[in-house]
Amino acid sequence: MEYPATGLHHVTACAGAAQPDIDFFTQVIGQRMIKQTILFDGRYAHYHLYYSNAKAEPGSVMTTFPYSRVKGRKGSGQIQATIYTVPTGSLSFWLDHLKRHKIENKGIQERFGQKFIRFMHPSGLEFEVLEDSSDKRVGWHTPEVSKDVSVRGFFGTVLSVRETSETERFFVDALGFRKTGAEGVHTRLEVASGGAAKTIILHHEPEKPQGSWIFGEGTPHHVALNVPDDDALAQQKGIYDELGYTDCSEIKDRNYFHSIYCRCPGGILVECAATADGGFARDEPFDRLGSSLLLPPWFESRRAEIVAMLEPIRVPEYNGPVAVGTAAPGVGPSRRDATFVGGDK
Ligand SMILES: [Fe+2]
Repeated sequence: MEYPATGLHHVTACAGAAQPDIDFFTQVIGQRMIKQTILFDGRYAHYHLYYSNAKAEPGSVMTTFPYSRVKGRKGSGQIQATIYTVPTGSLSFWLDHLKRHKIENKGIQERFGQKFIRFMHPSGLEFEVLEDSSDKRVGWHTPEVSKDVSVRGFFGTVLSVRETSETERFFVDALGFRKTGAEGVHTRLEVASGGAAKTIILHHEPEKPQGSWIFGEGTPHHVALNVPDDDALAQQKGIYDELGYTDCSEIKDRNYFHSIYCRCPGGILVECAATADGGFARDEPFDRLGSSLLLPPWFESRRAEIVAMLEPIRVPEYNGPVAVGTAAPGVGPSRRDATFVGGDK
């Protein structure tokens, strides 16, 4: 069978307050903030913030809902950690860098022969930087995180499951992954050519209580796989239906991509996403991505009401080459403290 999934598209998690989230991804992980928008579901406005590598490529895009209204509970049936690739030899920099930012970490560990560091977002979300010399994608860089050590994009995600076999079957039979390794409690699944942005690791934790599935601070919400286009979404929905995974959602318009969602047997929500025409640059220039609050056309008439529900935020000066004091189009009244100056990309 031909399968449409080519690797990861994005990972989405619920953070706490917006500003510590922005500071963590742009200053600690050193990603580029590429979009300020809102969660499209529900009655209340929450930010939806996007971070990526230099080219805003699928497979590098971390997205968060700052969601301090409700706390999530970590556990099994959830993404346990999201893994970024970094160049081989850079982990000593990362240890120092995390220490400088007082970020809790677990030191250098090894899994499937690759060294990594696990560390914590302020809300308790877990991330890793993993050495992978084969990843040639272009990382973003910042005053603290230079090009030679920056994150390139995702390697993959670690999923916590109480049983491994049915989640493995889901990824293999429904999405075209291959089992390429087993090491103690870990099972490695890879899709297409495998490696960076094409890897899922199952962590067998039979005794771990179920984590929450709600939008809740400190818990990941879903992992999204990249598919080429809308036809591929329909094809993937057909594969789910044929196999009996009949709880796949309808195709949803996420403005920057179109998506279907299906919960895997281990409990983790898996999205398939097809980038829309223009991608993240469809509503703002590529060199100014992330510099102002953007709403999809169907929410634009409610902008004032939405902005009133959002906390003011500030994005880093190096995020984009916008002149000092220039309010980007669409910047709401609560966002006047945001300043942007020319930055080296
Ligand atoms: Fe998503």
